[in-house]
Amino acid sequence: MIVSGSASQALAAALARELEEPLAAVEYDRFPDGELLAAAPGVAEADPDRAVIVASTVSSDAHLELLQLQDAVREAGVEEVVTVLPYMGYGRQDAAFEPGHPVSARAVARAISTGTDRVLTVNPHETAVCEFFEPTATAVDAAGRLADPLPDDLTEPVFLSPDAGAIELAETARNAYGTGETDYFEKTRHSGTEVEISPSDVDVAGRDVVVVDDIIATGSTMSEAVGVLSERDADRLFVTCVHPLLARDAVTKLSRAGVEAIYGTDTIERGVDTVSVAPTLAGHL
Ligand code: R5P
Repeated sequence: MIVSGSASQALAAALARELEEPLAAVEYDRFPDGELLAAAPGVAEADPDRAVIVASTVSSDAHLELLQLQDAVREAGVEEVVTVLPYMGYGRQDAAFEPGHPVSARAVARAISTGTDRVLTVNPHETAVCEFFEPTATAVDAAGRLADPLPDDLTEPVFLSPDAGAIELAETARNAYGTGETDYFEKTRHSGTEVEISPSDVDVAGRDVVVVDDIIATGSTMSEAVGVLSERDADRLFVTCVHPLLARDAVTKLSRAGVEAIYGTDTIERGVDTVSVAPTLAGHL
């Protein structure tokens, strides 16, 4: 039985269809004092052997809600609990970057571990975060899906990643598309919203370019990359990512920078063109 967190309802429904498993009735509520209540009455009623909880932890509330759903399905007597984190919040805080700082990814992984037998997460920023979980945690690669919404008629396409860390995503997207060159920029981050991008050596003039990253958060990285590509006379510019977090004015920033389209997957439910990771997840369930 599939159980949805409030921020992952469309993906949970798609996964239920993909696996031909029932989608549990759930309730999300908030008490007058602000405390949350996420419940799964559908699980208590159906009494399944397995519950697959699908919940992107896009906010602190979503984190708490996940812990409640894990507890609720155990309370209902479910034997096996699988937790699917389409997007693992705090995953980029995977080290103590300054003295006295927490390893936040480890802290949330520990909490989530207490209520599950297995974890699946989609393209975490660093696969090593899987080691922070106590039960087996698997990083599922959905980057191949990123080629699906691209137009069929890209001209001499170039698939670029904004930094060396994301080159494998760009290569996977290119391989799934079937043709194109790949390369990466050098990125220097000056602050949460300020990044500097050094151009790659590829000649992009007159060519369609797809910039591929794991996540678009504030859009600073992508808009810098797009700016550099425009200066170098690239033709159409597409940006695509696994996790379209698109915080603050990211969509406006990218649109103003001149992108043709912003694509992402449904690991985070936002109003951009998306492709579902449900078939990829289903293969692991
Ligand atoms: C960092 O290395 C990530 O891969 C992304 O490039 C980064 O998190 C995107 O953040 P923003 O959209 O705020 O530049």
